[in-house]
Parts: sequence; C-alpha cells; structure tokens
Amino acid sequence: MEIRTDFLVIGSGLAGLSFAIKASRYGSVAIITKKNTTESSTNYAQGGIAAVMDAEDSFDLHIGDTLKAGAGLCRDDVVRFVVSEGPERIAELIQWGVEFSRKSGTEATFDLGKEGGHSMRRVLHAADSTGKEIERALIDKAHSIENIRIYENFLAIDLIRESKVLGRKSLPREEQDRCLGAYVFDIENDRIYTFRSRFTILATGGAGKAYLITTNPDIATGDGIAMAWRAGAHIANMEFIQFHPTCLFHPEAKSFLISEAVRGEGGVLKLKSGTPFMEKYHPLASLAPRDIVARAIDTELKKSGDDCVVLDISHRDRGYLMNRFPTIYNRCLRFGIDMAKEPIPVVPAAHYLCGGVVVNGNGETSMDRLFAAGEVACTGLHGANRLASNSLLECVVFAHRGCERIRERLNEATGEDLPIPPWEAGQATESDESIVIEHNWDEIRRCMWNYVGIVRSNKRLERAKKRMELISQEIQDYYWSFKITRDLLELRNLSVVANLIVACAMMRKESRGLHYNLDYPDRDDRYWHRDTIVRR
Ligand code: FAD
Ligand code: SIN
Repeated sequence: MEIRTDFLVIGSGLAGLSFAIKASRYGSVAIITKKNTTESSTNYAQGGIAAVMDAEDSFDLHIGDTLKAGAGLCRDDVVRFVVSEGPERIAELIQWGVEFSRKSGTEATFDLGKEGGHSMRRVLHAADSTGKEIERALIDKAHSIENIRIYENFLAIDLIRESKVLGRKSLPREEQDRCLGAYVFDIENDRIYTFRSRFTILATGGAGKAYLITTNPDIATGDGIAMAWRAGAHIANMEFIQFHPTCLFHPEAKSFLISEAVRGEGGVLKLKSGTPFMEKYHPLASLAPRDIVARAIDTELKKSGDDCVVLDISHRDRGYLMNRFPTIYNRCLRFGIDMAKEPIPVVPAAHYLCGGVVVNGNGETSMDRLFAAGEVACTGLHGANRLASNSLLECVVFAHRGCERIRERLNEATGEDLPIPPWEAGQATESDESIVIEHNWDEIRRCMWNYVGIVRSNKRLERAKKRMELISQEIQDYYWSFKITRDLLELRNLSVVANLIVACAMMRKESRGLHYNLDYPDRDDRYWHRDTIVRR
C-alpha cells in the first residue's frame, strides 16, 4: 500500500517535531515514529538547552566554549550560526508552549543552569525534566495542525533510492542518488507500507544501545544512520561516542541519568572512600568537559577496583534539591538513596553520538531530497566532543534551516510518476529461533563496551572488528531467511552502526576529544585535523 506525502519525517523527537511544525506551512507532513510519539531521547533530556540569554553572556563566549570542547574538529561557520540563531529558536519554542523554569520572584528572568565546559550560566531548563516539557508542548502543537499526521508504531525499514527503482545497480560515485521516500513497517498490523515523499527528513536520533551501559532509551538503535549508509549516503566521525560521566549505578535502575546540572549546582565527584579526585585531572575539577571526566572515572575505577564512584551534593539544602531536581531526587529515593543525606553512586555510560549522517549547513545529506537533523546528523557543530546541552539547540537550528532550504526547493520536479515497486518479502518464513536475535544483540553491546569504549587500543579494536564481522554475517543470513520483526530490524541496524564505529575508530590514528587510543595517545593535527568519512 502506498501513502503519498510532501514531507516524510522519520522520528518524533525535538528535531522531527520542530521540522514538522514548520514544514506543515508548505505541504502535507507524515511523521512516522517507531513507538509512541513521546518515546525519544528528547523526552529524557534533563539539563536543558544552551543559548545566550543573559546580558553578561555573549555569542563569542558560547562559541569559544563549543570550539574548545570540540577539540579542533568543529566547523567554525556552523558553530557561529548555531549559537547566534539560538535565542530566536528558543523564542519559537516558548511561543509553541514550552515553559522553561524562571527565577523565583522574578517571572521575567529565566533560571539559567551551568554544565561542564560552559564558562557562563546559559542552560535553559524545565527543572530537571526539560525534554519531557519540550515533547509535551511540541506534540500538543503538532496535534493542533491539520497538515500533520502522526503514525505511531511505524518503523522505517529502508529509504527508497531512485537508482534502485530505475533498476540501476549502482551509480558512478560522482552521480547523486535521489531519495523517494521509505518502506515502513506497521508493527501492530504486521504490514509494510510505501511512503512516497517529495522530501524525506531523518530525525531518528542516536545509537546508545550499541553499548552495554547507556543513558539512552531503547529507541536509540541508530536506524537512520544504518538506513542512510545502506542507501549510499556519507557518514562521518562515528568514533566520537560521548560517555556521560554520571549514570545512576544501581542494579534495578535501567539507564537513569544524573544530570551534569547537579555538578553545576555544586555536586562533587568522589571515590567511594569519600576522596574527591577530579582536581588531579583538570582545573575545572568535577565540571571539566565530559571526555576528561569520563576518562578520569575510568582510570580511578581501574586503579581502585571499585564498581562505581559517587556524586555528592548532600551539602545542599533538601528543599532546594527537591525543587531544582525533583525527578532525580524522587528516582534516587525510590532506590533508597537520599541525595540530601548521602552521595549518589554513579558510573559513566554511552550517551551521545557526535558523528552521523553528513549534512551541510542546510541539513542536506549527500543524497538528493534526503535531509537529516538532530543526533542522527553530523553537522560539524560538535567536532570531537559535544558541549553539554548543545544537542537540543542543534536539533532546533538544523530543523529550521532544513525547512528554509526545502522552501526554496519546492518547485523542483519530484519524480512523482516513477512507479515504486512494493516491498519484496521474498521467501521469508516465520523464525523458529528468536534466541539468535537476543544473543547477538547482547554480544554486540558487550563487545562494543569492552573493546570500543572510553579507552581503546589497536588490539581491542582489531578484536572488535573480527567479532563484529562474524555477528553481522549471521544477522544478514537471518535477515534474508526470516520474516521481519521489530527486534530483527533494530538488531540489523545496530550491527551496521557498531561496524561503522569500529571502522572510524580504526581509521583515526591519534587521540582527540572522545576518541582515546592507548597506541596513539597524542593529538596529531598534521594528519588528523579532519573528519573520518565512510560510504558504502
Ligand atoms: P530523539 O529525540 O532520540 O528522537 C528520535 C525519534 O526517532 C524517536 O521518536 C524514535 O522513536 C524515532 N525513530 C528512530 N528510529 C526510527 C525508525 N526506524 N522508524 C521510525 N521512527 C524511528 N541534550 C541536551 O542538549 N541537553 C540535555 O539536557 C540532554 N539530556 C539528555 C539526557 C538523556 C538521558 C539523554 C539520553 C540524552 C540527553 N541529551 C541532552 C541529548 C539529546 O536529548 C538528544 O541528542 C536529542 O534529544 C536528540 O533529539 P532527536 O530529535 O535527534 O532524536
Ligand atoms: C545532562 O543533563 O547532564 C545532560 C546534558 C546533555 O547531555 O547535554
């Protein structure tokens, strides 16, 4: 069955929703999302969204902090426009109904938070559940627009390439392929639809689930990157995986983040014995950039043999903690931890992917009519390490710019008459061995955690490569033999993404930002002041 739409938006996080709201002025929008609409990394964002909002702050300071965190690999022009367009995009979010916390008693002034690597207070937040508030407001807004239709539990399988429709096996490297839409799996009804679109926007988020320990929700399986790679688009900088230093360490707490804002408000990282240790590693101590904090924790845990470090903010007043961090306070309490009285046990966890589908300053990928925005994209903003709370900002700036670019291109011919063949299920039968999926899923995540984690080496990467090749082959064989399921599609994507992370990590023969290789401990600006770009 074919569904026609002007804009196909894949993903309902901040990038997808903000693009859809804007694009609905120019045509029909179909948002497909593989779970319910709220389920996204956006929904779990705690710290907030960085922007210059205070008279003491300046664009130059925010730009400087972003460039410094990015360890020489940010694109200067991108950093400049993202930062300087920030306040306008924030005004739009507020206009759409997002309510950021304000200073008590002064309704006109935002309560700005501070996080690692920021030289000023500039993080707008809604207490410690900023993402939830953003999703709430934007979903309400999207529901109020007639031109937008949201398809929940619809999972995009693959992009539709013009070259394939025309029966051309591959294109010469210099020729640009065109995206005509996507094949989409309706999970609840076990049906596959052809979505034909004039423009397709990947807003599928990140890939934290490639790692055993992650702050990310289950949807973060790198689907957009895998689809774009299979379609021949350029992918870059996959080695730059950001590990957040403070994920709650508790056997029953699945992926719960303890926001960096807790350190911004005075939280101190200590060993289990109670000794602070970050002063040894960086003048900003517990508020040093994330790559430094995560590596320091990793070093200390290896030295002490402890299973976690602790984050101590018990010197702050209980009333203050309950008001500023209600989600964290209550969640900790549920696990028997009273953060007003005792330190919180924490470990680093895979958190954010700086690399992704390469886009230009307007969100255009290397494939015609395919745009990308948000964590799925590699825009040049983050370079080798993302500054805290710059991700939500990137989502709204690139969604806006992508939409503006599409507006200029609305009159282009669309290839609407090309007949797209329906999805070919082939000879696939029902699987009788679902255990294979569970086993491979687990093996990928352990392999990536152990060999492609915070500290890497040539030997570890080599081991990961060999294992990943075997696992990927097994998954491919399985994929072609059995009927698709949600788990199988996600596993296939996860294995593609894991392979891309390993490939980029092996290419970069230096240490920079989030990529640390014991065999090349230094930064090498002569040869490696560049992105690692891969293409199928
Ligand atoms: P997401 O919000 O992840 O949305 C992706 C969407 O795509 C989801 O709706 C998903 O279901 C859908 N999807 C994926 N694959 C498919 C498919 N195949 N078919 C259909 N739909 C699909 N950043 C900040 O700047 N500030 C913060 O305070 C902050 N806190 C964070 C806290 C946590 C716990 C986490 C995990 C991340 C945090 N980040 C923060 C990072 C930030 O939240 C994300 O980078 C950002 O929200 C990504 O938005 P997005 O729209 O690109 O993707
Ligand atoms: C946090 O609240 O610590 C997360 C902020 C981010 O990832 O930008």
